[in-house]
Amino acid sequence: MSFKYPLATSSWDDAEYAALDRVIESDMFSMGPEVRAYETEFADLFGSKFAVMVNSGSSANLLMTAALFFTRNPALKLNRGEEVIVPAVSWSTTYYPLSQYGLRLKFVDIDRETLNYDLAALEAAITDRTRALMVVNLLGNPNDFARLKALTEPRGIVMIEDNCESMGATFENRQAGTFGVMGSYSSFFSHHISTMEGGMVVTDDEELYHVMLSLRAHGWTRNLPKFNHVTGEKSDDPFEESFRFVLPGYNLRPLEMSGALGREQIRKLPALIEGRRANGAMVQDMLNDHPRFMIQREIGESSWFGFSLVLREDHAGQRAQMVRDLGEKGFECRPIVAGNFAKNEVMQHIDHEIHGTLSNADYIDANGLFVGNHHYPLPEAIRELASL
Ligand SMILES: Cc1ncc(COP(=O)(O)O)c(C=O)c1O
Repeated sequence: MSFKYPLATSSWDDAEYAALDRVIESDMFSMGPEVRAYETEFADLFGSKFAVMVNSGSSANLLMTAALFFTRNPALKLNRGEEVIVPAVSWSTTYYPLSQYGLRLKFVDIDRETLNYDLAALEAAITDRTRALMVVNLLGNPNDFARLKALTEPRGIVMIEDNCESMGATFENRQAGTFGVMGSYSSFFSHHISTMEGGMVVTDDEELYHVMLSLRAHGWTRNLPKFNHVTGEKSDDPFEESFRFVLPGYNLRPLEMSGALGREQIRKLPALIEGRRANGAMVQDMLNDHPRFMIQREIGESSWFGFSLVLREDHAGQRAQMVRDLGEKGFECRPIVAGNFAKNEVMQHIDHEIHGTLSNADYIDANGLFVGNHHYPLPEAIRELASL
């Protein structure tokens, strides 16, 4: 079924096809110089020291989590059974790696308007047992990192960010994804940039960077610099270092084509974000006081992944009608990420507790949805939303 107003559209043009041709010409398809160049350019653009590309945003979350188990830095190292706080609304693979590494997940409610952490609930949920905080910037909206830092830093709580939905968002002029000790990004098709599949982790911590270089590829030493934080000094004999395994890692490597695509796409990123923000401003202008639904309240500068519409209380329970009305106007829409994730059947496999109630997550689970945003102007679509 094709929609007049789809959730996602392509931002590729000849540049991306030329990049693919460049890789074909080079005859080097597995991870190589394009991926390396993309990582350097990405780190520079986002104001981070290091970047590690992987094959998806989900893999980026896995790599961040694993790195916290294999770091030698006691201030960052996590152990099985320790508590990590997570927001009740996010994507499945925000949670899975944390659970797979044996952490106990404490679910905290979100704010009904920002769709990010309910900061009062978060503050109340933090105890002496809390070791880490997973921050998710939902649908383009950055969290209030000034508050989050004030909550975590004095207690030595390790903060990581799943920024897979919010590339290009900023808080106090700093890029979302760079506030945590590591931050993840996705470049899956429907996101701000597209390498079709792809992800990235950024960090300023050189030891974590080296740990991730090893974990990304078989847990071997081959991609580590000669002097590194994992093995110390490597041998100058490449034969000796070719099959030397030091960490229980994975194969999360991206293709060289994905790196080449990423390089073209981040050149466009400032313009892509500007286009999305212009639409965001128009949505704020035209839909802020809509009688039927609330829009997402922006913290910092959102990169507006999409536009959430949450029914106001006097319209609660009428989402099915809203989906029908949107469908008639040609809008493709989806629930707000996974709604209240803690309601999913998969929770029986996840060691967890729920802090207080998740009433806002439940509310948006039953009464929320989102429609797509794009990098080009959407005045007609926004006027249609206003007329709902
Ligand atoms: C918050 C969040 N985290 C992680 C992911 C996973 O990213 P990917 O689809 O690249 O694996 C997504 C996917 O959209 C997401 O929304």
